[in-house]
Amino acid sequence: MRRNADLDTALAEAHAAYTAAHPESLARHRAAAGALPGGNTRSVLFYAPFPLTMLSGAGCHLRDADGVLYVDLLGDYTAGLYGHSEPRIAAAIRAALENGLSLGAHNEIEARYAAAVQARFPVLERLRFANSGTEANLLALATACAVTGRKGVLAFTGGYHGSVFTFAPGRSGKLNAPYDFVTTPYNDAATAVAAIAGMGERLAAVILEPMQGSGGCIPAEPGFVQAVAEAARAAGALLIVDEVMTSRLVPGGLHTMLGVRPDLVTLGKYLGGGLSFGAFGGRAEIMDRFDPHRPDALSHAGTFNNNTLSMTAGHAGLTEVFTPAAQAALNARGDALRARLNALCAEAKVAMRFSGIGSMMAVHFTARAVRNGEALADTDPRLLELFFFDMLAARIWLARRGMIALSLPVGEAECAQLADALGGFLERRAPLLGRADAE
Ligand SMILES: Cc1ncc(COP(=O)(O)O)c(C=O)c1O
Repeated sequence: MRRNADLDTALAEAHAAYTAAHPESLARHRAAAGALPGGNTRSVLFYAPFPLTMLSGAGCHLRDADGVLYVDLLGDYTAGLYGHSEPRIAAAIRAALENGLSLGAHNEIEARYAAAVQARFPVLERLRFANSGTEANLLALATACAVTGRKGVLAFTGGYHGSVFTFAPGRSGKLNAPYDFVTTPYNDAATAVAAIAGMGERLAAVILEPMQGSGGCIPAEPGFVQAVAEAARAAGALLIVDEVMTSRLVPGGLHTMLGVRPDLVTLGKYLGGGLSFGAFGGRAEIMDRFDPHRPDALSHAGTFNNNTLSMTAGHAGLTEVFTPAAQAALNARGDALRARLNALCAEAKVAMRFSGIGSMMAVHFTARAVRNGEALADTDPRLLELFFFDMLAARIWLARRGMIALSLPVGEAECAQLADALGGFLERRAPLLGRADAE
């Protein structure tokens, strides 16, 4: 690849090379548009000029419709923590299949899995299962409204809590669930505390991620979370911590590192062992409102809440594979990788850095520390796009928005492949990137 004189030319060349290399994916994308709007049923996976179709996965590799093999560093946005073919999970699913699907009754695995999840996340004095992270957050917020008799919710710009809870800067969130939302900037304690005081008795809950995942792997500052928690308590509102992505980072959940005890916590992603999953829970006093022995019990049905496949896969994954030791090793690998990538950026003296914690990280084209989405407002989105297509050309699969979530099968060789690809990107594209010392 030759050096490109300007960013638009570089991107046009990258698109042309991509299109030429992926005729089968293009054909499948076009065919899919007959039934699916724009050929898509999961918005985050779409990117122009057309998305790749993956045909298979094994370990931490994916193969696309044109036969190209990639190192999968996206890990299905954290849900693919176990990789694509973890044998202990596959065996457990096969065994569950033998016992029949859709029993339509209490089954013997749901309570065992609930106990295992509770053992890993002690904040969950009681929990209930759902089918997705979105659903878990809908239920946590609905619970907060029912318990407080209020409707207001404080969320944070850049936050993402599911398909009906999008608070990305500059995006309308037109499909957002009709709560009385107020949003303030992440990691800005004073503005959040003022908003909480302003909402007063209107406020049912504050919902926050202990590290914004979709928003760019931006860790919360402990002082911010503690101030928000205290203000929420003073206002008589609940603190809901969305650990759908971050629960993989620390045994107990990331909130345990921030010095707060949430009223409710939501879970999802990898805890389904690769199948659909969601859960919410927390203080017994709140969750026991769902106890069906009570005449005034809150009702939360859901055909697939206790489906045997998700329960079984989740249980096998959490108890046999993602042990606390495996969790520590994976996150140490992520910390080391992020340090290595940042060292390369620093050496090249470009305005580029990787933020995150442990096995989750995201690239940003800025030299400044990223505290919230507002800090990224003046970065050029074309750089992220170019990085994505250059990584694809280097056979690395990551999120179009620059996110990486390591899965357990990712080893030293795969980390080295990314570091080499970044080295090539920095070498080739440095003239297009901002200078670190210019900011
Ligand atoms: C923090 C967070 N909460 C909730 C969700 C929604 O989960 P799901 O896609 O399973 O509905 C996501 C998904 O990316 C998420 O990142």
